[in-house]
Order: sequence, then C-alpha cells, then structure tokens
Amino acid sequence: MLVEYSYKLLPGYRVSLNEPAPSIRRSDYTESFDIKDREFDLIDHCFGNLPSAYIDYLRRRSGALPISIVDLGGGWFSRASRGVAKKFGSDVDVTNIDVLLHGEVNDTDNFHARLGDISNLDLSDASVDLAYSWQVLFRMEEGRRMNTFREVARVLRPGGVAFVDEDYLCTLPSDSSELQDLAQELGVTLHFKNGTAMKSDRVYPHGPTTSRFLLMVKEPEDAEMLAIEEKID
Ligand SMILES: C[S@@+](CC[C@H](N)C(=O)[O-])C[C@H]1O[C@@H](n2cnc3c(N)ncnc32)[C@H](O)[C@@H]1O
Repeated sequence: MLVEYSYKLLPGYRVSLNEPAPSIRRSDYTESFDIKDREFDLIDHCFGNLPSAYIDYLRRRSGALPISIVDLGGGWFSRASRGVAKKFGSDVDVTNIDVLLHGEVNDTDNFHARLGDISNLDLSDASVDLAYSWQVLFRMEEGRRMNTFREVARVLRPGGVAFVDEDYLCTLPSDSSELQDLAQELGVTLHFKNGTAMKSDRVYPHGPTTSRFLLMVKEPEDAEMLAIEEKID
C-alpha cells in the first residue's frame, strides 16, 4: 500500500511493511504503531458520541467560530479529521497532526494535515477547543506520553476538552493522588467516561475489554457542556 504512494515522514521514524500489518515505529524502537485510518464516526462512537455532541454544543454556543479541533495522531490519510471537516463544514477548523502523512492528501479551507510529534505540539497556547486521540498514546513511551498530556493541557483554551482512549491512566481510580496531582499541575480536571467496548470487532478485535476513556477539561469547566452525557448506540 505505502509503496504505491508518496508519503511524508517525520525524521526519527521508520515505516515497515514486513509484518502482518504495516507499521510505523521510532528509529530507536521504543514505540511502534499500526498504520490505521479510522472514520470519525467510529471514533466518535467509541467516545460515547461525546465529541460530536460537544462540537454541536460549541458551534451553537461559541461566539468565535470556527471551532478549533485537533486530531492527535489521526492517521496518514487523515480520514477522521477530514470527516469532521466535511460533517461540520465552515463551523470547524480541523488539523490532523501525525508523524506520517500521505503525500497527496490536500488541505482544504477547514482541514489541515501537519507533520509533527504530538509530544511537542507546534500550536499556540490556549488555541484549541477540542482535541481527540484514538489508539496512539497508550503505545507511547511513558515520558513522551506525559509530555503529550502537558502539551494538550497547554494548547487547550479555557473550557476546552480533550478525549484520549484508554491507557494506563484510565485504570487508576479517578480520585487517585497520582491523577489528582497531575491534573492540578496541568490546570485541568480529569473525568473517566464509558465508551463503546474496544473489543468490538469493528475497532480492535484483540484489544482491551474495557472501554473507559479519559476526558481532560481545561479549567474553568463549562458545566452545561459537561452535563451532556455519553450515548452508546
Ligand atoms: C494506530 S494508528 C491510529 C490512527 C487513528 N487515530 C485511528 O484510530 O485510525 C497510530 C497513529 O499515530 C501516529 N503517531 C504515533 N506517534 C505519534 C506522535 N508522537 N505524534 C503524532 N502522531 C503519532 C502514527 O503515525 C499513526 O498514524
């Protein structure tokens, strides 16, 4: 598949085609990822349909359209972020940041693909309304994953939200001192939510059997938005 296309790759990463599934890894072998490009509707569904519900809420409530949305490690085709741009039109401005990008997927007025490392975001402070990441952080080396959390907290606007699928943090009770210390340090609150099980064969057949995910909210919280409940259909 990859050999047929041109692609852009961040220095320090390698693409491998010699496995059952094509993968991308850091050159120092510390991190490895399947090359996937899921649809936004599927990722939204796995996050309990909250991302789309929050986007709807924000576009109705926000005095500052377009809403700024970032897909963290959104896949080389940017399929999900292009889907968000198409679904919500000019009310949103969507950016996929990935270390591997298809050479022929072009930006549009409200969609941008950026080569970059999510643990070191090339984004201004307080510039993002909503971020999401699916099947990326749990494979990152711990220090770099923590840097990613710090970076996400930095770029979120007050009241902004970030969705991250289950990783080791989500196995901790939300009142654990480790999590509370992290949240305090970053100026965010952390909520654990229930999404659709990742063992669903549409998503990740051999994955974990729980489906909790992390919702990071930059203070101050928008209570009305957070009152919207996840919906599993
Ligand atoms: C398993 S795929 C998931 C892609 C997409 N989120 C989905 O669910 O279909 C992991 C993606 O994360 C990207 N990735 C891994 N580390 C990254 C990093 N540090 N910064 C940006 N993207 C990264 C990979 O290139 C790959 O596209």
